[in-house]
Amino acid sequence: LNSLLARQNTLNESMRYSVLAGGKRFRPILTYTTASLFDVEPRQVDACAAAVELIHIYSLIHDDLPSMDDDDLRHSQPSSHKIFGEAQAILVGDGLQALAFEVLSGAKNILPSARIKLLNLLASSAFDMADGQSIDLSVVSKNVEVDFLNKLHLKKTGALLACAVKFGALLKPKIDKKDIDILSSFSKKIGLAYQIQDDVLDFLGSDESLGKRQNSDLKKGKPTYPSVIGIEESIRVYNNLYEEGIEELSGLSINALALLLNSPSPSIPSSYKPLYALIDSSIPITEGYVGF
Ligand code: IPE
Ligand code: IPE
Ligand code: MG
Ligand code: MG
Ligand code: MG
Repeated sequence: LNSLLARQNTLNESMRYSVLAGGKRFRPILTYTTASLFDVEPRQVDACAAAVELIHIYSLIHDDLPSMDDDDLRHSQPSSHKIFGEAQAILVGDGLQALAFEVLSGAKNILPSARIKLLNLLASSAFDMADGQSIDLSVVSKNVEVDFLNKLHLKKTGALLACAVKFGALLKPKIDKKDIDILSSFSKKIGLAYQIQDDVLDFLGSDESLGKRQNSDLKKGKPTYPSVIGIEESIRVYNNLYEEGIEELSGLSINALALLLNSPSPSIPSSYKPLYALIDSSIPITEGYVGF
């Protein structure tokens, strides 16, 4: 990421500010891990991993804008618009989205035919994320059913996570269609679980452990899993999704142990308490998905 942001241009400094601030890097970790299951060379994965993280960071910068969630803290530092102003923060997001497509379309170590498929997936997933964000804002202070929340969460968060997982598999030439289907279904489960975790941590976390404002959803009247079905039930649903997701991986044509035993990235603050550790303290932190 650092090398992608080495150019001299007006936006460069403000793009670096957000991209290099850290975060759990969950999406690129999923891409590298899935790719490793299918014996894809890490070098070949770099462009996909960077592209999906760039889209994610852009989504966070826009998500924090005053006209969206109006949050002033991200990755333990002031949000982009707090430093550079709202207009620049919008442009930083635009720049990062464009850079994501530039990086992936220019990845010469990926066959052009594969690149087209990857680009198409990135585009549709970034669109679903934006669509999900639009739905999210349309239901502020409204009552929604769990089914509605599931659709919303799958779009705003699940789409990019599914893209990250599928990227790893699509890099493998002649990937088994059945494997893609299993990974798709698995990603939907963990995508939903990941946003449920985020919703729960909005209640149970702290500004320090999250690196962002706790209680942000409640303040804005956002319907979330805990606000719709309560904390305990949210954790139960999360737990079920996590287990179901893992079970599905056993259907893959390869052994998916690496995806299960992936250890957390060093960039994850040690104060970040993975939700699954809250649910079941008997599971050591290194045995779950990063961020869980
Ligand atoms: C935050 O995602 C927003 C969601 C889509 C849940 P992450 O928790 O993965 O963000 P990072 O780790 O701070 O980048
Ligand atoms: C954001 O969900 C999902 C995105 C597409 C960025 P949230 O609004 O709950 O994310 P946080 O809690 O601000 O990170
Ligand atoms: Mg939001
Ligand atoms: Mg937000
Ligand atoms: Mg949140």
